[in-house]
Amino acid sequence: NALKAEISAATAKTQEELEGYRLKFISRKSVLGELFADMKNVAPEDRKAYGQAVNEVKQQAEEKFKELIAGLESSDAGSKSSAPIDLTLPPNVNLGTVHPLTYIHNRIVEIFQKIGFNVADGPEIEDDFHNFTALNFPENHPAREMQDTFFIESNPDIALRTHTSSVQIRVMENQKPPFRTLAPGRVFRNEAISARAHCFFHQVEGFFVDKNVGLVDLKQTLYYFAKELFGQDTKVRFRPSYFPFTEPSAEMDISCNICKGKGCNICKYSGWVEILGSGMIDPNVLENCGIDSEEYTGFAFGMGIERIAMLKFQVNDLRLYSENDVRFLNQFKHLS
Ligand code: PHE
Repeated sequence: NALKAEISAATAKTQEELEGYRLKFISRKSVLGELFADMKNVAPEDRKAYGQAVNEVKQQAEEKFKELIAGLESSDAGSKSSAPIDLTLPPNVNLGTVHPLTYIHNRIVEIFQKIGFNVADGPEIEDDFHNFTALNFPENHPAREMQDTFFIESNPDIALRTHTSSVQIRVMENQKPPFRTLAPGRVFRNEAISARAHCFFHQVEGFFVDKNVGLVDLKQTLYYFAKELFGQDTKVRFRPSYFPFTEPSAEMDISCNICKGKGCNICKYSGWVEILGSGMIDPNVLENCGIDSEEYTGFAFGMGIERIAMLKFQVNDLRLYSENDVRFLNQFKHLS
């Protein structure tokens, strides 16, 4: 019975203690082994009872042994997970990548900052004056109609800006020329969402106002920009166009950098793709901002970031930019 008590009190916190237990109670040379060996010295009539008693202790000893092994294993596992954390290991997280629109935005800003442009910001919710009136939109101009513009509630004076040209007005009415300013931002148009149109997108506006600014400055500045962004062998051409706030107005095409003139779907086999609208700022616009149009002249341009990113990365569906599909986004890992 003393032996039974000893067995049930036994513990094993380490492999050594476990082995100690095994030697003491289980192995051939253990106390139990000795008791079995003693069998021959027991009187024959007592042997049955003796054997039974020793066997009982042996079973208890073996059961306890299993318990001790199990206990040691689980505390082993426990001690592994509570091991000190190695803070020098890099965290195992999936880092995000630069969004293609952010990349293009940053490149455009970088290119114009090199030639002295600063960056301005304006509100996405605009009033009619800054989005239309000051930009010389005639009262009945179709762009003011509901189909293009998202109005706020029932107030026809407040809308989501349809272009970043509103920032031209905000900067020019509050500061004194000269201006060399870039205004990137999000714009909104009430259009059915498709591969080629979205109800929101991003533009970068640019404007340059000083004494003696002419069309040659516009052309050379935008030619420099196109070569920086699309490669030094890029060609540009200007086509006459119309915007209420510029006169004369022109759209700029670049030579198709995808087929290099061989003909492809992107340039519709013309070898040219349109990338921006531009023109000399209409004197009315300068005057609307309190700038003397006899003394100052300027040019302005506006481009869509999605469109430029499409040309740069051959993205064929505008919706991909805002769907947050990691299979799309992971393709731009190399930009980070
Ligand atoms: N605001 C024009 C548009 O959204 C682009 C533009 C900007 C054209 C500046 C000329 C000058 O289409």
